[in-house]
Amino acid sequence: MKFFIDTANLDQIREAQELGILDGVTTNPSLMAKEGITGRDNILKHYVDICNIVTGDVSAEVIATDFDNMVKEGEELASLHDQIIVKVPMIKDGVKAIKYFTDKGIPTNCTLVFSAGQALLAAKAGATYVSPFIGRLDDISTDGLNLIAEIRLIYDNYGFETQILAASVRHTMHIIDCAKLGADVMTGPLSSIEGLLKHPLTDIGLEKFLADYRKGN
Ligand code: G3P
Repeated sequence: MKFFIDTANLDQIREAQELGILDGVTTNPSLMAKEGITGRDNILKHYVDICNIVTGDVSAEVIATDFDNMVKEGEELASLHDQIIVKVPMIKDGVKAIKYFTDKGIPTNCTLVFSAGQALLAAKAGATYVSPFIGRLDDISTDGLNLIAEIRLIYDNYGFETQILAASVRHTMHIIDCAKLGADVMTGPLSSIEGLLKHPLTDIGLEKFLADYRKGN
């Protein structure tokens, strides 16, 4: 299972990278705005800064919603760095754009996916990643994890190579559940990843080991 961090915060990206388990980064326009990164040039530079910190895939989202401009923006994003994955929303022109990028060998991440049907279309268009937003489904009393299970079943039935990127992961238990269901990738905040570290018995055990060592040394 690949671990992506879902942020545009360079300090957090560095921290996750230093942990040695990071496979990539996802961003979106809201996460960029949260870090105060505005204006096309600054946004493009920020993507390059992120690519220079991590070794894996970095999703960069198109803003256009029509085919021609999605293609123009996506090609510009892809030319920034070979780690860039062009993130395209699940709308009609987005599906066409994903097919276009697939044919050109440009990797894509189909975002804002909330149903198995949308995930099927993304795979048919050849998306590298599909991003079902599990937290946002949970927010409206719909089981986000069930969507991961449905997409896994459908992709396995037909051997689709599109990787399931569980997005809108909010906490550590989402990661565990996505791993059980066979998601290929998860993207979440640093806190969700660091939550995997924690167990009180680890802390108690370590304290005892160190106390016993100190008795004899
Ligand atoms: O990866 C998608 C993500 O950025 C959305 O997360 O927490 O805003 O639903 P959230």
